[in-house]
Amino acid sequence: ESILIQPKLVDLAHYSHYMQKEIFEQGSAVANTLEERITNNCMLEIETFEVEAVRILACGTSYYAGMVARIWLESMGIPCEAEIASEFRYRNPVVPDNALVVAISQSGETADTLAALNQASKLGYKYSLAICNSPFSQMTRVTDLVLHTRAGPEISVASTKAFTTQLVSLLLLMIALAKRRAEIVSELRALPSRIEALLQMDKDIAELSDYFADKEHTLFLGRGTHYPIALEGALKLKEISYIHADAYPAGELKHGPLALIDAKTPTIAVAPNNHLLAKLKANIQEVRARGGKLFVFSDSGTPIKSDELIEVIEVVKSGPFTSPIIHTIALQLLAYHVAVTKGNDVDNPRNLAKSVTVE
Ligand code: G6P
Repeated sequence: ESILIQPKLVDLAHYSHYMQKEIFEQGSAVANTLEERITNNCMLEIETFEVEAVRILACGTSYYAGMVARIWLESMGIPCEAEIASEFRYRNPVVPDNALVVAISQSGETADTLAALNQASKLGYKYSLAICNSPFSQMTRVTDLVLHTRAGPEISVASTKAFTTQLVSLLLLMIALAKRRAEIVSELRALPSRIEALLQMDKDIAELSDYFADKEHTLFLGRGTHYPIALEGALKLKEISYIHADAYPAGELKHGPLALIDAKTPTIAVAPNNHLLAKLKANIQEVRARGGKLFVFSDSGTPIKSDELIEVIEVVKSGPFTSPIIHTIALQLLAYHVAVTKGNDVDNPRNLAKSVTVE
């Protein structure tokens, strides 16, 4: 049986909501997840596996962590697919030789993810790993290996610190698979203090919430590893503020969503200063030309400038592997403040459950 965490047993301290507390805990949650694991490779066992392909299975926010990791792994020569667990459980794909299945879950009890793992084992995946925040959950008992995300109890239904520690754990997996080790290690070491610096922007981000409070629709755009972050930002906003939020890979703008742009539909662009920025800039202009208001989350030193339709929010600059984490936290703060401004029950959004243990 898994341990049920009672909200009242976790002190809110000086915070107004668990979600706010959990957002602000991310510097230490990440530091805990990393502790001793970079120097003493925490996934030594996986090095004895001959991993030739990876399949990631998860639901909800955890699935978006998998989408980011897919891009990381394939860029290092490891074929990888990330899949929604409720879809995978009813499919019969061809399984490559020496394939590793990775399940990602905060609770370790999500019915579809457990069923998808079961399907993976029937299909013949050779190795399995759970990246999980609940050390005594069912999931941790059915996989060969477990990488515990040490986020601590997450009470708020909308996931925050569980997600960012999942991304950190996936980077630890990359290190174990011996890919671009030095670069990832140095970014991870700098991450907790960069998160603290980002959290200093709380007030600036809170000031944006009035603009969103009366909006009915929003569009999130991103490219590359920041497309899943746009999806996660949109999910956070819809979950707790009840504002309709769609996320698209920015290149898809012309294939549909541009038709929705008007003065009442703001666009949030996740736009770090990387090799895809020039492309994203063109997409930003496409929205601007239709009179759409844009909030562009870029990082310090960005060439994108604010004007009457574009508001640039410069987040703390970080490297390519940890920038998705920094941008996520900025979008968590945005969703949080919009929900608070609207007077919603931030920690217990309507119709949603923390852990979905039925199909
Ligand atoms: C529910 C939660 C989400 C979570 C998803 C997957 O929908 O509200 O926050 O991302 O389940 O949960 P898991 O525990 O497997 O990560």
